[in-house]
Amino acid sequence: MTSATAIAHPNIALIKYWGKADETLSLPATGSLSMTLDVFPTRTTVTVGEGAAVGEGAAVGEGAAVGEDAAAGTGAAESADRDTLQLNGRPATEGELARVTKFLDLVREFAGDTRPAAVVSENTVPTGAGLASSASGFAALATAAAAAYGLDLDTRDLSRLARRGSGSASRSIPGGVAIWHAGDDAASFSETVAAPPLAMVIATVDAGEKPISSREAMRRTIATSPFFPAWIPSTAASLELMVAACAAGDFTRIGELTESNALRMHAVIQGSEPPIRYLTAASTRVFDVVAGMRAHGLEAYSTADAGPNVVVLTRPEDAAAVAATLSAEAGIAEPVIALPGPGAYLVGAGSDES
Ligand code: ADP
Ligand code: DP6
Ligand code: CO
Repeated sequence: MTSATAIAHPNIALIKYWGKADETLSLPATGSLSMTLDVFPTRTTVTVGEGAAVGEGAAVGEGAAVGEDAAAGTGAAESADRDTLQLNGRPATEGELARVTKFLDLVREFAGDTRPAAVVSENTVPTGAGLASSASGFAALATAAAAAYGLDLDTRDLSRLARRGSGSASRSIPGGVAIWHAGDDAASFSETVAAPPLAMVIATVDAGEKPISSREAMRRTIATSPFFPAWIPSTAASLELMVAACAAGDFTRIGELTESNALRMHAVIQGSEPPIRYLTAASTRVFDVVAGMRAHGLEAYSTADAGPNVVVLTRPEDAAAVAATLSAEAGIAEPVIALPGPGAYLVGAGSDES
């Protein structure tokens, strides 16, 4: 048996990825840029073993538990040759497992290996709430699975691999502020870019799972939102300005571009048919409070991914004041301060030939 464990952190985009140019290869319609957080790590262990060894693993459970668990398969024979996924301490749903198996199929193809794997993963960020669990989740899975199946990939190729699990996961492979390039399969990787000191304050207004996944919502946006054709050149232009602002260390410009790109993304999404609305009254309240901070000389800017939770970009030295104001004026119970975090890394790998 070969096992590998990896850690990866979520990233929050300053210039958003919304829409694919190619679903199969997970190529984005535009490039994007994000900050990986130093909070909310995902830890994932992938164990590749011979048939029955996988079935006997912790991910499947014992005795009666197997029969109750949809993800473990319908019978003992089947569970021996399919992947298993334990997510956040419970057996994964069929949908969650199918997504992981599709990703592992790709890893197995690259590795020339057909053995199934037992995957155990723990998120510390809420899953499916618009705080980038798919980014930390698939970055950790890519890193652990590549090691467990014996693929020796550099950061660029690992970011291309993670991209196939979830587009945003590509940006959680390198650390800090990362750009994910649009382009063909070879060109669409992520790498760290220079940026001035940044902090983010996470304002969780609802940690529940979103009603429609990012993937599904993107499809509907492309198929039905009349604004989508305008989103592509607008985002490409904003990305160029953002890269220049990062290189120049211009925090104010970075903030302005961040908030405007987030609001444009939500406008495009809301233009879908039937409409999709991720921002709630509580989210809007945070945007208002942050605008009020700026009016009073505390420089902060809001962004939100595909969910109601708002992330506030600020300078590291202002983060505590921003957090305190979010608590006092927007009723955020526990704002979390994040600084740029590390790229994905292995914490353990080993073989047991017994
Ligand atoms: P989010 O805003 O949290 O990124 P998405 O809709 O993009 O939400 O993705 C959520 C999905 O990502 C989950 O339903 C699950 O399929 C997958 N996912 C999240 N965390 C993990 C993980 N640690 N390991 C494997 N898959 C995960
Ligand atoms: C709003 O990467 O979760 O967070 O590639 O289908 O897995 P899939 O989608 P995902 O989409 C992220 C969308 C976003 C913006 C961003 O992170 O850039
Ligand atoms: Co996601």
